[in-house]
Amino acid sequence: MITGKEERPRVLTDLPGPEGKKIVVDDEKYLATTTKAAPAVVKDAKGVVFEDVDGNVFFDFTSGVGVVNTGHCHPSVVNAIREQAGKVIHFAGTDFYYNVQVKLAKRLTEITPGAFEKKVYYGNSGAEAVEAAIKLARWSTKRKFILAFMGAFHGRTMGALGLTASKIIHKQSFFPWMPGVVHAPYPNPYRNVFGIDGYEEPEELVNRVIGYIEEMFKRYVPPDEVAAIFVESLQGEGGYIVPPSTFLKELRKLADEYGIILVDDEIQSGFGRTGKMFAIEHFGTEPDVLTMAKAMASGIPIGAAVFNAKYDFGVKGAHSTTFGGNLVACAASLATIDVIEKENLVENAAKQGEIMHKRLKEMQEKYEIVGDARGLGLMQATEIVKSKDSKEIAPKMRDEIVDRALRKGLLLLSCGESAIRYIPPLSITKEQVEAGMDILEEAIKEVNSNL
Ligand SMILES: Cc1ncc(COP(=O)(O)O)c(C=O)c1O
Repeated sequence: MITGKEERPRVLTDLPGPEGKKIVVDDEKYLATTTKAAPAVVKDAKGVVFEDVDGNVFFDFTSGVGVVNTGHCHPSVVNAIREQAGKVIHFAGTDFYYNVQVKLAKRLTEITPGAFEKKVYYGNSGAEAVEAAIKLARWSTKRKFILAFMGAFHGRTMGALGLTASKIIHKQSFFPWMPGVVHAPYPNPYRNVFGIDGYEEPEELVNRVIGYIEEMFKRYVPPDEVAAIFVESLQGEGGYIVPPSTFLKELRKLADEYGIILVDDEIQSGFGRTGKMFAIEHFGTEPDVLTMAKAMASGIPIGAAVFNAKYDFGVKGAHSTTFGGNLVACAASLATIDVIEKENLVENAAKQGEIMHKRLKEMQEKYEIVGDARGLGLMQATEIVKSKDSKEIAPKMRDEIVDRALRKGLLLLSCGESAIRYIPPLSITKEQVEAGMDILEEAIKEVNSNL
């Protein structure tokens, strides 16, 4: 039995082990193909630690893809779920009333940036939160176009997919997705998105992106027909790109100038992940709409768009959903926010993130194949390249590092074309960060020595 306090992983079998293999075989037979990344077959999980069905013990540096910021099965969240499930599980909060939904909405309006009056729309996932934001923006402005960014990931439903521009596999064979979306380059300080070699000053990079958008507005996208700009304050699936510090402020100015709604997608970066409650707080600006999901209820499905109250639909029936804001999910979300606050998890994310970032930077110095180390708080990544000079992507080497790390007990996920992301629960201890980084370094060293 694991306690969550383990200081080292322990892998005793091949992966998947004999029990795990049976489940993997059945999974392949009965489940639709999705995005399976590693043969990790979980049985039990606590905090940062999980045990598989063959008794191997791992550190989870993925948090269920950025979901369990409070750690796996935090006792306060588990209690809140049990307690609510014993009273009422579902009653359709869109059509009737219950207090836990209202209480959570009030808390969300308090913890999100912006001193204006806000309202909350509940969905069941990140993509649904994005769909709601698209509909709010179109409804309230009566405009049609949406601006998003290259490398963006906003979800896979047909509306959100229109905004997503991260990997071609997400879009291949699915056209037509929602029309009316245009994309501008996201300012990437490591890889020059304009194809010009050499380092550009961060502010110059931002000026170029804003200039690019202004050019679009002059030539083929009438700005007074643009409903919203969707942006990730720290671009996630696209490669964990931290934009230059002025980028979000400049977007805010642009949005204000043309009466466009600024939507900040914090579905991956929210709830303390970056060392602030929401990543946009690093950049001193406020969005009109903020989308959230993943970490919102520590693993119970829920998503939300928190928006300036003036953009509300205002009429019944324009938008709604059966399960959105389900009672158990709302109770789990309230408990999640309490845990984040009481256990100072935002501060811990900043503190442990610094330790992690320092280790990743040291690896960047030491190993030819680590081209970049970047991130905020516990949303960190390294870019794996063939050589530092060429910056040429090396997805095979990246995948080999991820695989070797798993066999040593560290579960990781990739992102972007050639990067690895490090997103453990925010409750992680210094010893666990160091142990994870030791394993990662072993894996990187082995792959680097095969150059
Ligand atoms: C920034 C961002 N937006 C939207 C989504 C879509 O969320 P979901 O998978 O819950 O639909 C994701 C998922 O990774 C995300 O990272």
